Amino acid sequence: MRRKEGWQNCSPWVKVMVADCGRYFAERRREVEARLEQLVPAQPLPGCPATLNAAMRYSLLAGGKRLRPLLLLAAADTVADSCGRFVDFACALEMIHAFSLIHDDLPAMDDDDYRRGRLTNHKVFGEAMAILAGDGLLAAAFEVMAAVPAVGAEKKIGVIREIAAATGLSGMVAGQVLDMEAEGKAISAEQLRTVHAQKTGALFVAAVRCGGILAGADREQLAALTEFGRKFGLAFQISDDVLDVCGDRDKLGKPVGSDDKNAKSTYVTLYGLDTARQLAGRTLDEAQAALDGFGPQAALLTFLVEQMRNRDH
Ligand code: IPE
Ligand code: IPE
Ligand code: MG
Ligand code: MG
Ligand code: MG
Repeated sequence: MRRKEGWQNCSPWVKVMVADCGRYFAERRREVEARLEQLVPAQPLPGCPATLNAAMRYSLLAGGKRLRPLLLLAAADTVADSCGRFVDFACALEMIHAFSLIHDDLPAMDDDDYRRGRLTNHKVFGEAMAILAGDGLLAAAFEVMAAVPAVGAEKKIGVIREIAAATGLSGMVAGQVLDMEAEGKAISAEQLRTVHAQKTGALFVAAVRCGGILAGADREQLAALTEFGRKFGLAFQISDDVLDVCGDRDKLGKPVGSDDKNAKSTYVTLYGLDTARQLAGRTLDEAQAALDGFGPQAALLTFLVEQMRNRDH
């Protein structure tokens, strides 16, 4: 794969960051946290009721790994030095993710009481407000992306369209429907892969693709990022299935046994615990292999792959 000039000529600090990935991600994470705090501020924006604002902030600013925003930013910096210009897109993805978690936990869906180490949104604010907080975060995410000044209109519309598709009818929402419809049923390996690709993988793919697009990735780089996102996203959901069986509730910040309670079809129910673990590891190998063409720039995304191998939350 051709190395992009943009990265070759990057500022010295990006080179330092690639050499010190831990610091790179800690700093990106701080930027994301600070910007999320500004985007949904403690003092509600004009017209936003205080209760809705409080409910949105409760779930959005409750910690979490911030993996999707970090993937977007790291994918961008893998392609070219992005100089922090894309943090609003990263935050928008996290807002969409928070919406998906609030709705996923509702009594009508997985009916879970804990998330990120605290009571779920509907347990604190009631079901109606939780639904609306999710709706509010989803809409606000698109408002945030549309308002980014540093990106040209054509590129911005392309990215917004990708994120909309990955969120909705061919992505997370579609996958959640398949996930519910598969409850209590024996589904094929192929069907389960589709559920995971849609409900979880799609937002991971969108994260790395949009990071790449924003940073000016060429076709080959974008294809590599897409393959990486697919594999990384699948491995992530397989290990989520594993952790739902044998994880530690306190480390996870959410209940274990939720899938069993809901008779979900998961990699554990289909393959058993050991094979599911092996499949997660192998799928991470494939994610890693997809980065081959990036050479040393692959260090950032490789770091995330390595973290994923040993994840306990
Ligand atoms: C949880 O996602 C939902 C899944 C797709 C499995 P994360 O495990 O990324 O949740 P947070 O953001 O770290 O809380
Ligand atoms: C993914 O699946 C949920 C979303 C797409 C939001 P899970 O239902 O397994 O996620 P957790 O385990 O509740 O975080
Ligand atoms: Mg679910
Ligand atoms: Mg769930
Ligand atoms: Mg789960």
